[in-house]
Amino acid sequence: IGQDSVQVLDHSYPRDDFTNVTPKILEKVGRNLHNQSHHPLWLIKERIKAHFYSSYVGRWGTPLFSVHDNLSPVVTTEQNFDSLLIPPGHPSRKRGDNYYLNRTTMLRAHTSAHQRELVRSGLDAFLLAGDVYRRDEIDASHYPVFHQMEGVRLFSNHELFSRVQNGGELSLFERRGRRTPEKQETHTLEAVKLVEFDLKRTLTQLVSHLFGADLEIRWVDCYFPFTHPSFEMEVRFQGDWMEVLGCGVMEQELTNVFPVSFKTFRSAALGLYGLCPLRLTFSEDLGDILTEQIVNYCLFVQPLSKYPPLHNDISFWLPDSREGFTENDFYELVRSIGGDLVEKVSLLDDFTHPKSGRRSQCYRIIYRHMERTLTQQEVRLVHQQIEHAAESELGVQGRY
Ligand code: PHE
Repeated sequence: IGQDSVQVLDHSYPRDDFTNVTPKILEKVGRNLHNQSHHPLWLIKERIKAHFYSSYVGRWGTPLFSVHDNLSPVVTTEQNFDSLLIPPGHPSRKRGDNYYLNRTTMLRAHTSAHQRELVRSGLDAFLLAGDVYRRDEIDASHYPVFHQMEGVRLFSNHELFSRVQNGGELSLFERRGRRTPEKQETHTLEAVKLVEFDLKRTLTQLVSHLFGADLEIRWVDCYFPFTHPSFEMEVRFQGDWMEVLGCGVMEQELTNVFPVSFKTFRSAALGLYGLCPLRLTFSEDLGDILTEQIVNYCLFVQPLSKYPPLHNDISFWLPDSREGFTENDFYELVRSIGGDLVEKVSLLDDFTHPKSGRRSQCYRIIYRHMERTLTQQEVRLVHQQIEHAAESELGVQGRY
């Protein structure tokens, strides 16, 4: 294996100072769980497709939305960020939060990375599904690989206003408008309100279709560089509000890929992020026991393992040069050694010595196996490996 390049899906990418993908993560690329019959992710995707196919029918009785679930997760940083107006230096580009193959290539952090190419190819209603990759903390609802499904729909004047009385007099665009919290400068308020209404209704209906009409939901205003206005849907789960998706009215600039723009956009993303205890997604022993009930179970009951957890703490002094260490580096290291035995890692304590200024941190690692009870002994072995690797790879100094 060449040290100076990274192999992914039969291609080779030269390493540089940005490269931070790990072998553990690369193992997951190409698994395509969302395309394997009867896998829970496939089942959820099929249910979402079926809902859209039956609820949104085009002029000839054919589905309005086309579905794209086979686009490579290896994208350029241009696709993942620039194509969505995410400026250079934006915090979402941080090395600590993404998996870079090198400075210009990465594992997509969201399916939105493909919006522009699909719009440019002339599509005006589509769904996109795929695996996405983010460096993150570890717990039952976060995993560095998860799946998203998102949709985009463009509206023409006619499509948006034909159901409105005297709608022919309304228009999508205005010339000397101003950007306000409600709308973009080029859009009329009436167009945006109709699109916003349609967007929220579409997603509310989808979520009730998937999880039942009893689910409590609420909308929260938020910010994305590529949509305005933007919203998040939260659902009530075990007494807390949990974010399940982000969406909004796509920035007009992104839709102006035609010589003359006569369509406006709305874009919706359904991040399954947070909904599914994503650890399940890589358990290979699910076989064919999967039924709709199991999908519902996996969506709402966590943790999934019925075996007991074991925990071990680890404390160390951080290296003196601060830029050399981020919490995600440690999470990453734990994950690359402990793999799916690690259910959760949390920062218990962060302490700066008053005299020396040295900083130390203490993390708790919770170990749990999906299919059996772990022994103290095997956990101790893994834990020791983590201690050693933290010292040799991250430059921390153990306090064990
Ligand atoms: N891509 C965003 C994310 O992953 C979600 C999003 C998609 C928001 C489309 C708005 C429109 O967080």
